[in-house]
Amino acid sequence: MTWWKESVVYQIYPRSFKDSNGDGIGDIKGIIEKLDYLKDLGVDVIWLSPIYPSPNDDNGYDISDYQDIMEEFGTIRDWEKLLDEIHGRGMKLVMDLVVNHSSDEHEWFQESRKSKDNPYRDYYIWHQGKDGKEPNNWKSNFSGSAWQYDEETQEYYLHLFSKKQPDLNWENPKLRREVYNMMMWWLDKGIDGFRMDVINFISKVPGLPDAPNPEGKKYVSGSKYYRNGPRIHEFLQEMNREVLSKYDVMTVGEMPSVDVEEAKKYTNEARNELNMVFQFEHMGLDNGEGGKWNLKPLDLRDLKENLTKWQTGLHGVGWNSLYWNNHDQPRIVSRFGNDKEYRVESAKMLATCLHMMQGTPYIYQGEEIGMTNVRFDSIDDYKDIETLNIYKEKMEEGQDPTQIMESIYAKGRDNGRTPFQWDATKNAGFTTGEPWIKVNDNYPEINAEQAVADPESIYHYYRELIALRKTHPIIVYGDYTLLLPEHEEIFAYVRAYEGEKLLVVTNFSQDNVEFQLPDDADFTAKELLIGNYSVSEGDIRRFTMKPFEARVYIGK
Ligand code: NOJ
Repeated sequence: MTWWKESVVYQIYPRSFKDSNGDGIGDIKGIIEKLDYLKDLGVDVIWLSPIYPSPNDDNGYDISDYQDIMEEFGTIRDWEKLLDEIHGRGMKLVMDLVVNHSSDEHEWFQESRKSKDNPYRDYYIWHQGKDGKEPNNWKSNFSGSAWQYDEETQEYYLHLFSKKQPDLNWENPKLRREVYNMMMWWLDKGIDGFRMDVINFISKVPGLPDAPNPEGKKYVSGSKYYRNGPRIHEFLQEMNREVLSKYDVMTVGEMPSVDVEEAKKYTNEARNELNMVFQFEHMGLDNGEGGKWNLKPLDLRDLKENLTKWQTGLHGVGWNSLYWNNHDQPRIVSRFGNDKEYRVESAKMLATCLHMMQGTPYIYQGEEIGMTNVRFDSIDDYKDIETLNIYKEKMEEGQDPTQIMESIYAKGRDNGRTPFQWDATKNAGFTTGEPWIKVNDNYPEINAEQAVADPESIYHYYRELIALRKTHPIIVYGDYTLLLPEHEEIFAYVRAYEGEKLLVVTNFSQDNVEFQLPDDADFTAKELLIGNYSVSEGDIRRFTMKPFEARVYIGK
């Protein structure tokens, strides 16, 4: 038995969760106020996005002090109270670890930039320019060059994200030791694990070579030189040996470009690296050519093929994380569901499809009440650095602003960052002040108060899914077989464990669709475990599914 395999995690983005003091920014006391809400939902673990001091160039993912709390969020005393209150309710707390980069306002960087022989110089990645230009042609993940020239010492530093997020130099053993000590400082305070930000970026290919650039662009992605780099497994094994192995904690590494083969290495228990990774493949299936801003409708067959590959690939070897949402992704009900006529049905269907799989489910704040994407009229209402930079970049390239806005409406990160909708009062009950980002104006209909009061709500459906996971080990441990791989509307699979089976059937379309269990599928139903429509008894080998219907049968 492993607690983190049997847990459901709830992610809080503190800035947008609950403001307790009217400054328009969510805070720790606000989180404490809402712990009973989370306990009632049934989640086991809370993951907090960064709450450390930060100039907020990237909303806390640019940390200027790893061992303190951002003033806007409260104090270390408030945080200690939060930890106590979480533990007191039998839940656990996972903190965000952001050590691919720090803020340029971190003391280490302040020192590092002073001189070439400063003791902190090698905490970061400095290089001379090449022919009067940047050291290589890599593009930052937030647009523009990945290098910033620094007048003081006349060299460039690497930043894979914004120029206020200089990359830490993991080749330096002193830096690694500092990180491990810092991790232990938090672990000794009693936290229960870490979510590790872009942790597969920490090892860069030596020499930092130019990326191939057949089209002669100014900057191109250098990601193959820093994602899953040459020393990554060595670094994680060292971190495990020096830190993680000494505590009973859970770890999940955020890993863009991780594939199943790499993930087996990262999560294989015998290798002592991490427990889980956040893979991105299923989040890229609606990307057109050239990445996330080019929109393409999802082909359900791709989603099935992909998630099945992860389900079967890690079975018995490692462990999956299961997610549709986080603070970087648009809202799933708007993305793969229907956030208008079938908002409730499709949100429940998507939850069923994911929560019945093998792995640890992650729920992102607001997902459990079916919060939707947002459409602000003006780019000025957007706050996210990635969004603002891409808007600028595309405008400079001469793209049509309406088209850019359509991409932002579909994919922008602020979709997931609008304030949590607690009730129908002003600002959705998030703050008594002026919220740091506008509230989605659908809050009078979509809010937690409404959802808790309505037994048929998405919220209560999530509660039920979470409760079922606790009472049915098959949901946690069962193996997985996909049915009907070529079906364009239905995602169906069977789980099996110790003589028991689950049949999960979900309709991803807004049409009525016939489901027919394949002749060779061996399944005898005992009862309907959960579903999002009322179902009368009938043939379970063949039935008509209503729009976005989901059914889970238990049997053998
Ligand atoms: C991934 C985080 O989830 C995202 O919000 C952040 O912008 C980047 N890493 C950089 O830290």
